[in-house]
Amino acid sequence: MCGIISYIGNSDALQVLLKGLKCLEYRGYDSAGIAIGDKTHPFQVIKAVGRVENLSQKVAQIKPAGNLGLGHTRWATHGGVTEVNAHPQVSYNGKIILVHNGVIENSATLKSLLEGKGITSKSDTDTEVLANLIAFHYESLSALPQEQRFSESVRVSLLEIQGTYGLAIICTDCPEELIGARKSSPLILGVQKDGFFLASDVSAFAGHTKEVVFLSDNEMVHIHGNHYQVQDLNNGVLTPVVQTIDWDVNFADLGSYKHYMQKEIFEQDIALKNTLLGRFSKDGSSAHLGGLQMSPHELRQVDRILLLGCGTASYACRVGEYLIERYARIPVEVECASEFRYRNAPLDKNTLVFVVSQSGETLDTLGALHEARRKGFRSLAITNVVGSTVARESDGGVYQRSGPEIGVASTKAFTGQICTLAMLALYLGRMRDMSFSEGCDFVQALQALPELVHEVLEKCDEPMRQIAHKYANYQHCFFLGRQILYPIAQEGALKLKEISYVHAEAYPTGELKHGPIALIDETMPTVILASDPSMLQKNISSMMEVKARKGKVIAIGVEGAEIPKKAYDDAIFLPKVHDAILPIITALPLQLFAYYVALERKCDVDKPRNLAKSVTVE
Ligand code: F6R
Repeated sequence: MCGIISYIGNSDALQVLLKGLKCLEYRGYDSAGIAIGDKTHPFQVIKAVGRVENLSQKVAQIKPAGNLGLGHTRWATHGGVTEVNAHPQVSYNGKIILVHNGVIENSATLKSLLEGKGITSKSDTDTEVLANLIAFHYESLSALPQEQRFSESVRVSLLEIQGTYGLAIICTDCPEELIGARKSSPLILGVQKDGFFLASDVSAFAGHTKEVVFLSDNEMVHIHGNHYQVQDLNNGVLTPVVQTIDWDVNFADLGSYKHYMQKEIFEQDIALKNTLLGRFSKDGSSAHLGGLQMSPHELRQVDRILLLGCGTASYACRVGEYLIERYARIPVEVECASEFRYRNAPLDKNTLVFVVSQSGETLDTLGALHEARRKGFRSLAITNVVGSTVARESDGGVYQRSGPEIGVASTKAFTGQICTLAMLALYLGRMRDMSFSEGCDFVQALQALPELVHEVLEKCDEPMRQIAHKYANYQHCFFLGRQILYPIAQEGALKLKEISYVHAEAYPTGELKHGPIALIDETMPTVILASDPSMLQKNISSMMEVKARKGKVIAIGVEGAEIPKKAYDDAIFLPKVHDAILPIITALPLQLFAYYVALERKCDVDKPRNLAKSVTVE
């Protein structure tokens, strides 16, 4: 949710922080702040409500300097969106300055304990309580040698707190030291010859270094001058694993696009090409997914699959359910990860669990992964972010390789997840009843997908813009889809809600008459997904039912399957495709619809209100 960037080294920290915060803004954008200083420059804390741009303007007036700094962009949890509540938070005695991502669950108890010692807070945040706690321990540990005192005060404080944290902390008495710590909230150390970075996402120091250490839960890193040490909270020194990551430094470049969401919609062809690259068997009849770390023999023993994810990822899981059940004939259950983690569902012993998460950091999905593993189930991951917590804590999996997704509303990650699940259905299907020729057809459909996606986007862009213009002022919208297209309808409704704040609901088309039809009148447009030719007549009947009640119908049809003109007000016709890729192709016009409606309504497409890209709190 919140974004952290911090730097210590030979360079000026300010530019590193501001550039990093810009990259992290997708994680939270209600306020931002920095702290900066060093041996010769007293530490200054500068904060601003609103976007990083507001902070930059303030910083330009003040011109703070120093080689050590913290930066934070906030998505509020404790306390409203004010400058006082923005991070960095400073302790009561001004010595400890920190930025935090997560929630300190026992902050109320700690706050009253500190108040009993005369230490009060100025903000409403749980973070300030932690800063005060560390400062309190720092004062009490005055007998310790100075080089141990700061890190020891952090360590003992972390042992007292409950909750989640990604932290970067400085002590004004120790201008050559920077401490980071994590628990259920990502924190990555970037290692350079003459400096170090701590960030909640590698994108924050992209272009500076590719050498990184992914901290694990309950680990602390203490950077002192040119050295760093990773330790656990029991003072055990750990051997860090330095990894070299591969990234494209141009990913944050908008090019000719106006918004990241638009860019990410239109780069789905390339993203899908990458998802598919090198993942087909030599005979062209199956997929090749080595990352699963399971032999064909082990995969044959699987009786049931459980797919877990949140939000958009949960809809990808629902599409996966249809694909795997249809092509591999393995029963699949899907559950929202946020529900599964607390439900204690009975599971068959030969169940294989998959968690699906673009960011690989969603706390609810991680909770579900931990729960499944605790019960002893083999738990694999489909994720986009290499080295993410989900990737590191699962028993194996598949990277979707969609490339960084910056727009808060997921688009290319969604189709990448479906594409990965389609390959999984093919792979498992070929181990069971799917014939060689069916497998070859499936592979050919997947291979043709990137080009098809490109064509459909080109073809639908302008018509969807016009349709969106027509419907942008409606306050409600229904999305209907049958079978595998029902989760696509759900995703279409979610996209519209998220970025244009239009109330949207999705139903299986056949459910319309069982209640929701009561809401249909001339103020209620209904998007009906009718791109599955086998359901054409049923879908036409549903359209007629809506039209008979003066509702507006936007039909997503398929070329060659005629829909009478009187059944719809507006329509788009997609090419007829293999069933396995139908959900991806059908999702495309819905993404464009949401995008253009949001533009018409003058909404902030890439940073919709109340949302953040990576949901690392409960
Ligand atoms: C919607 C959206 C969210 C995420 C959800 C899970 O556009 O982006 O619903 O899909 O928060 O996120 P990941 O996939 O990162 O676990």
